[in-house]
Amino acid sequence: MDYQGALEEVAAAVQAQIGQGQVAQYIPALASVSADHFGMAIADMDGEVYGVGDWTQPFSIQSISKTFSLALVLAHGGEVIWERVGREPSGSSFNSLVQLEYENGVPRNPFINAGALVVTDRLQTLTGDASTVLLDFLRAESNNPNLAFDPSVALSETDHGDRNAALAYFMASYGNLDNPVPTVLQHYFWQCSVEMSCRDVALAGGFLARHGLRADGTRLLPRREAKQINAVMLTCGTYDAAGDFAYRVGLPGKSGVGGGIIAVIPGRCTLCVWSPGLDARGNSVAGVAALDYFTTLTGWSVF
Ligand code: DON
Repeated sequence: MDYQGALEEVAAAVQAQIGQGQVAQYIPALASVSADHFGMAIADMDGEVYGVGDWTQPFSIQSISKTFSLALVLAHGGEVIWERVGREPSGSSFNSLVQLEYENGVPRNPFINAGALVVTDRLQTLTGDASTVLLDFLRAESNNPNLAFDPSVALSETDHGDRNAALAYFMASYGNLDNPVPTVLQHYFWQCSVEMSCRDVALAGGFLARHGLRADGTRLLPRREAKQINAVMLTCGTYDAAGDFAYRVGLPGKSGVGGGIIAVIPGRCTLCVWSPGLDARGNSVAGVAALDYFTTLTGWSVF
């Protein structure tokens, strides 16, 4: 497979979509990013990376981090996390509160904000420093020791984090958080603020294509749990657009409001695409279009 040729064809095909949509506004530090960026990278099973456009430029990974924190919780603590969070699509926006009350403080899945807060709480209990453990893992897997949090993004989100605080306090009222709410929020915001390029994200997600094996060949997760994360990414990774994402792209994927999306072709490769213009559900317009084109071009999709 000519990965480089495929990426160049995809980039040319989505030119008209780049710049469409709106850059995330509710986190002021993200609102100043230009919508005109586009980058895409593929990491193969051996850690060889190919890229096009702005594929080496760091961006705010935001909710892509939720994939990695879930993997680390499963790696450290096993499947008991599923007693605290479900694995069904929510059909609601990523920061919605409505289901939490009638479902007794148990979030539908680990990728909506409520679910990710529970996962971060669990990672904090298991490790004592959730955000540092996540950053260290991302640095190791992407072979990039320079990866860092962006304090301006983390503090900007902290200052405008009333919705996430509401979710966390509400779940705490049901006893679904072990750590103090401010601690959970702090680690969650800092995890979301990590700056990575498409290259870094594609490499860091390699364990999902390698059925649980890390970049150094050691095992992070049993094969079964790697499969399960990919399944939850497919059904819940793009929130209330998960059905449309499966319809158009047909791969496990996880988006972030920074405009990045990670997608996995188990047994073959991991992709990351970045373009900051978002649709109404918080997913990158050009990013989804690029993955749609890629899976149609290659025939590499679950479907
Ligand atoms: O908590 C938030 O709202 C953001 N830090 C992350 C949300 C996000 O990335 C949703 N993804 N499309």
